[in-house]
Amino acid sequence: MSTPTSTIRMASRTRTMIGSIIDSSTALLASQKHDIVRFAMGAPNAELIPTADFDRLLGAHAPGRYDYGATEGEPELIAQVQAFQQRLGIDTEPERLLITTGGMQGLDLAFKLLLDPGDLVVVEAPTYTNGIGTALSYQAEVIEAPVDADGMIVEDLPDIVARAGRAPKVIYTIPNFQNPSGTTMSLARRQLLLELAEEWDAVIVDDDPYGALRFDGEDVPAFAQLSPGNPRVVQVRTFSKILAPGLRVGWVDVDPALRAKAIDAKQAMDTCTSVPTQRMVADYLSEGLLDAHLTRLRGVYRQRKQAMRRIMTAQFGDDVTMTDPQGGFFLWVALQGRLAALDTQKLFPVALRHGVAYIPGPAFAASGRFGNALRVCFATSTPERMADGVARLAAAVDEQVAP
Ligand SMILES: Cc1ncc(COP(=O)(O)O)c(C=O)c1O
Repeated sequence: MSTPTSTIRMASRTRTMIGSIIDSSTALLASQKHDIVRFAMGAPNAELIPTADFDRLLGAHAPGRYDYGATEGEPELIAQVQAFQQRLGIDTEPERLLITTGGMQGLDLAFKLLLDPGDLVVVEAPTYTNGIGTALSYQAEVIEAPVDADGMIVEDLPDIVARAGRAPKVIYTIPNFQNPSGTTMSLARRQLLLELAEEWDAVIVDDDPYGALRFDGEDVPAFAQLSPGNPRVVQVRTFSKILAPGLRVGWVDVDPALRAKAIDAKQAMDTCTSVPTQRMVADYLSEGLLDAHLTRLRGVYRQRKQAMRRIMTAQFGDDVTMTDPQGGFFLWVALQGRLAALDTQKLFPVALRHGVAYIPGPAFAASGRFGNALRVCFATSTPERMADGVARLAAAVDEQVAP
């Protein structure tokens, strides 16, 4: 990604703003005019968004719907989020909740309040680079911790931190069905991470957009369940993946003292999150529609994950390894054997030409690693579309590896 040069004297923090490496792939995708099977965006497909209910609820009359709202969020929505968190097993109270403009604003607020220039942040590798982009914009330094089938390898952290020579101030993790790897952090690692955060006087930023989308296996207790009321745990949540990303409604669940500062910070950012949208989401939840919607999504995503793995295996056999997520949206695919030397960034325009899109692995690490991996989103496509998409991917791969 190239940054335009300017004669304007910009703030030093602009030098560490990386922009979205993920979105640069999707921008190229958006400019294509031919039919493309989309494994790229982490978004529910249109048919899985309850637009009829949204239209009905948005049209309902409610006084003050178009006024400014309270910065912390509409009281009806805060009450509904509290009840939803409780249904997910997390006790909370309105004094801990702040409605945000999507999960991204929750991350931005968290890092804005926690990080000074030069502070150290532990991040997963691979990770959601838009998330670390917010930390970098506050001039933090990131160090990478590897991920395996049980999420971030927390046992490695003491060595990684010793090599860095100073303790981190924040540990940024996506513990459930991680973006991009699809892996979930084990209970033992969550417990160890809580201990390490205590030892290092650090905060765990727990970014969990996908946790409610578990379609197999048992829930692993959240940090907030393992350590209720722990001020070192900042929970960042969003309705983007369980309802619709265009709503731009999320929330943070944090220690009340941090929330008070977050309200001040949000006031200076956007005053409040869109009031009509907040009320629409609150009404959707108060009518009890979300739980049934989630049950439907889980069924669809289970079937799609299985289909994607089956089709990829049939197509590529031992030339790929894949994660096997129990929820969420993503499979992380590593190329090996005959395909080990293939560069998924170079493959990307070829794949687009063949009519399929994914996100290349290097988009998920600040260091640009993972050139032989890619992320596929299984949530968007029907199994029939997936079969077409994987066949197109195979054609692109053959073109690249052909002698
Ligand atoms: C891990 C993670 N965090 C945060 C976000 C941002 O969520 P939102 O679209 O609500 O800002 C995403 C979206 O892709 C994500 O995958």
